[in-house]
Amino acid sequence: MSQIHSNSSPFSPLQVLPLAVSSKPAPPLLIRNGRIIDPANQRDEIADLFIQSGVIIGDPPAKLPTETQTLDASGLIVAPGLIDIHVHLREPGAPHKETIESGTFAAAAGGFTSVLAMPNTSPPCDSPAAVMWLLQRILQKSSVRVFIAGAITKSLAGEELAPIGSMLKAGIVAITDDGHCVQNHEVMRRALEYASMFQLPVLDHCQDYNLSADGVMHEGQWSLRLGLQGWPRIAEEVIVARNILLAELCSTPIHIQHVSSAGSVRLLREASARKLKITAEVCPHHLWFTDEKLQNFDSTFKVNPPLRERHDIEALLEAIVEGTITIFASDHAPHANYEKEVEIDHAPFGMTGLETELAAFATLLIHRERAIDWPRLIACYTVNPARLLKLNLGTLTAGAPADLTLISPNLRWTFDRNQSFSLSKNTPFHGCEFVGRAVQTIVAGRTIWKLL
Ligand code: DOR
Repeated sequence: MSQIHSNSSPFSPLQVLPLAVSSKPAPPLLIRNGRIIDPANQRDEIADLFIQSGVIIGDPPAKLPTETQTLDASGLIVAPGLIDIHVHLREPGAPHKETIESGTFAAAAGGFTSVLAMPNTSPPCDSPAAVMWLLQRILQKSSVRVFIAGAITKSLAGEELAPIGSMLKAGIVAITDDGHCVQNHEVMRRALEYASMFQLPVLDHCQDYNLSADGVMHEGQWSLRLGLQGWPRIAEEVIVARNILLAELCSTPIHIQHVSSAGSVRLLREASARKLKITAEVCPHHLWFTDEKLQNFDSTFKVNPPLRERHDIEALLEAIVEGTITIFASDHAPHANYEKEVEIDHAPFGMTGLETELAAFATLLIHRERAIDWPRLIACYTVNPARLLKLNLGTLTAGAPADLTLISPNLRWTFDRNQSFSLSKNTPFHGCEFVGRAVQTIVAGRTIWKLL
């Protein structure tokens, strides 16, 4: 299938209201007969939606402006623009893996209108200067909104707090040491106390280094059979438990990134029963694949945290159904072929995901398992992440920015990594058959990607 993409207007990544950066404003648009799903307003109905000057208007006015364009959305879902809060764009430092330009093209092609960029770049995003450099680059190159996560600690080394307050002034919307994990609990406590002064969201990649040691895959029967060092569940779970305790102590919310284990689900469930402010995200690969995928030493399936076992997948599914996990994300982690095509011990962790995540979740959770419906899935990509990051996005409320994702819910398609916009092809979903796909992505009223 061919696709078109236009990268016409850059816009401020922090701008969550319409802006006048393009010389020509987006023409008014009437989207007709779509299934409007707006979980923020508990709305699910067939209706028309009118947008103008980059803003949601709502019902069309009695007299439409003459220049109004019309889009027939019969058979399509009209959703608020999807938000992925876990994306590695690799700039600065590794433009051979991904750039802001290529990564945001890939995001648009996956139906995403906003992404949160992780700070484990080279150099890392751990200073106001780094944030400002990135903002400039985003303004020049991005085709979707890019929000920035700053580091918790300088150089992501886990020792000294990064200048969190001045990074916030420079434009970050959250902090995390993602790719790394703060091992020193005292440092993490101070980070939480400091972040709470600004109500800045704290996100954490949970990995105890002593327990995960040199593990390259899940510790279990497959790591034993293959003779590979294991990265056990407990290495994630002790940090999830630590974070829950610190969140309670500091009365500060924490968001747990890429949950992979049944034990973490149990801890999160207990925390939410105790009304602690803990949120969590899950990535599609942790639901689609088990550690068995490593049996041929294929480093495409090497990811951190690692693919686990069937009963972990079942626990993650339950957590989604019951609402313990409320956010979906990709952990889009591009790596070049030459980096991945080495002995598995030496290959980097990570897999791409922006162009497949929506379809992977829809295929598994809606069509195969019948575990959730479209409004639930869309909430996990819109209102829930928007609330976590305190963004005025993820809704079709009148006056909100006109960021929209049009989804064909029953479209059958097969993903081909060679047609990916990402510069890297390290996807575990090559050749997978999906049901459901984003077909048009609109940012601030402007179509930035459309499936032909
Ligand atoms: O597999 C991963 N790759 N997990 C992470 O947390 C980091 C990421 C990367 O940056 O490559």
